Amino acid sequence: MLKWANLFIKKKSEKDILSPDKQICFHFVLKNGKMTYSVEKNQKPIVFSSGLGISICGEKPFLDSLTMVRCQDKKHNETIEMQWGEDKYINNTYNESTFYLSEAEAPSRIITIRVRVFDNAVAFRYEIPPQPKFNQITIKEELTEFNIDLNSTAWKIPAYQPDRYEYNYEKKNVGELTSSVHTPLTIKTPNGQYISLHEAALYNYGSATIKLNDNRKLSTDITPLSDGTKAHVSLPFQTPWRLIMIADSAIELTTNRTMFALNDAPSQDFDWVETLKFIGIWWAMYVGEWTWAQGERHGATTAHAKEYIDAAVRLGINGLLIEGWNEGWEGDWLENGINNQFTKPTPDFDLEEVARYAKKNNIEIVGHHETVGFIDNYEKQLETAYNYYSVNGIHYIKSGYAGSMMQINGRKEYHHSQLGVNHYQKTVELAARKHICLDIHEPIKGTGTERTWPNLLSREGARGQEYEGGALSPSHACYLPYTRLLSGGMDYTSGIFDLANNVKRIATTLARQLAYFVTIYSGMQMAADRPFMYEERFKEEFEFIKNVPTNFEKTIPLAGEIGEYYVVARKDRNSKNWYIGGITDENSRMVHLQLSFLGPGSYRAKIYSDADNAHYRDEQLSIEKKTLHVGNNDTLDIYMAPGGGFAIELVYNN
Ligand code: NOJ
Ligand code: CA
Repeated sequence: MLKWANLFIKKKSEKDILSPDKQICFHFVLKNGKMTYSVEKNQKPIVFSSGLGISICGEKPFLDSLTMVRCQDKKHNETIEMQWGEDKYINNTYNESTFYLSEAEAPSRIITIRVRVFDNAVAFRYEIPPQPKFNQITIKEELTEFNIDLNSTAWKIPAYQPDRYEYNYEKKNVGELTSSVHTPLTIKTPNGQYISLHEAALYNYGSATIKLNDNRKLSTDITPLSDGTKAHVSLPFQTPWRLIMIADSAIELTTNRTMFALNDAPSQDFDWVETLKFIGIWWAMYVGEWTWAQGERHGATTAHAKEYIDAAVRLGINGLLIEGWNEGWEGDWLENGINNQFTKPTPDFDLEEVARYAKKNNIEIVGHHETVGFIDNYEKQLETAYNYYSVNGIHYIKSGYAGSMMQINGRKEYHHSQLGVNHYQKTVELAARKHICLDIHEPIKGTGTERTWPNLLSREGARGQEYEGGALSPSHACYLPYTRLLSGGMDYTSGIFDLANNVKRIATTLARQLAYFVTIYSGMQMAADRPFMYEERFKEEFEFIKNVPTNFEKTIPLAGEIGEYYVVARKDRNSKNWYIGGITDENSRMVHLQLSFLGPGSYRAKIYSDADNAHYRDEQLSIEKKTLHVGNNDTLDIYMAPGGGFAIELVYNN
């Protein structure tokens, strides 16, 4: 029997799976019982021969004794409609092959590899069906390799660090990635292909980080639990999709939406979900005017909340975030976060009265839950805390997990471990039941799950403007569209106009603060400065923030290079209007815009751009504003100052 099995193992099976346009080829090989794959585009290598496998605690790994039972092919051709986002329609067209494999020797377990090849990506996942005496398993490691030329360039942020995903991007050779980095990991190969390694549909599993393995090949390093294992699961189980986005240019990569296509359609009605723009009792705390904690300068008082509601009405903004409204912020709030109370307002904050006042004025309150990562404390209160907001008509929550680790019953776990992944998902599902939308700070990275759960309107998950005042360079936001934003929208907290503030000096120009509303998409978009900045000093600039949509029909990237600059045009979902945003690093540059993407007819273009002397270090407020009438045959030349940018609103006339 064994002899026969060995003979069978030695057989080689291989198969090419081509993309619908036949340019990308995923080559699957099963030889001597081992699975490998490689990827090419137009015969040029992208991923060289790479191993596949899963190792399971207390069991033999699924690695080197596999035989092919059957292979099934499928073609799929679909256009997905997204409820909200950067593009209303997403192409979900692929060729799929599913490899059903079995071990040649006892215990003869079975495993399936499902592969999808799109015109701009490849994706595959492991599926383990239930089988006799093999039902509850613990994953020791996933052995997926991405054998990419070591001389490729990678743009990375480190994994397993105290500030989670909130780091500056660094450019390295793939050959230098000896410690784990987060995905999306964007890479340029020596033959000029741009790729991004990421994952889709991350549920009930540790997040994949990437590093060079002992064979000097990039490979998955699944975030461990505190017991050292990667995930405890019951069968049937499927891993998230391993996703390789592929593009011919950096700018083309930015609109790769395959991650969403790999997630399921919603299984319930989410018609009640609406994107939101909001101001907040927030930046005043960052510039030291107010405090989260109670006291003389407490921000979240009933009186302040009502003043901000009145301001929101005057500004034409629909939402108001209120941070520091609850018991638990006193002393070192990061140390004491275990005490946070999510149903107990401070004595100077009458939540019911504020909610009533907001409702009367048609303003949505964005509630706030800062857990500091103490998820045992939070989970105990979760249902009552959501009910408390819900009965008071609060439909949006910004949550936060600012601790360096998640803490549960004295145990420390990574935010991006299986435990973290499951916690975040629990909040999303409970929120869906209560008709609450979420904006999660210090979240798990995006893997497209908001397609299935559209109430997950936004997340942070990268360095945002809270790091201004020294820890953000002008290039940072120029990396995001090519890296972090490949995992979905981000609450960057844009729109700070008080740029030269002594406490938190901002390294941008004024025009660039407007550009962010186009270059950084968020389903919940914050106009982050204090209302007086918008109402008094920069009324005209604020018009742009007021008008720019939070839900787009179509996104067209126009120009850019990773970490250098980025220019993008987006069409409103509810009108024929277009919005263009551009940002640059510390170098000034001119951009030449061809407006051929506009529909026929005439548009009134309101342009906000850097004046000639503008600079992110000193002349931050130097801005030029002008109105032109343009059509789709026209071009515009726009100047961006060092650390600057521009924003254009194109209003359809007729
Ligand atoms: C970190 C979040 O990113 C920030 O927006 C929030 O204000 C603080 N945590 C406090 O919750
Ligand atoms: Ca943060």
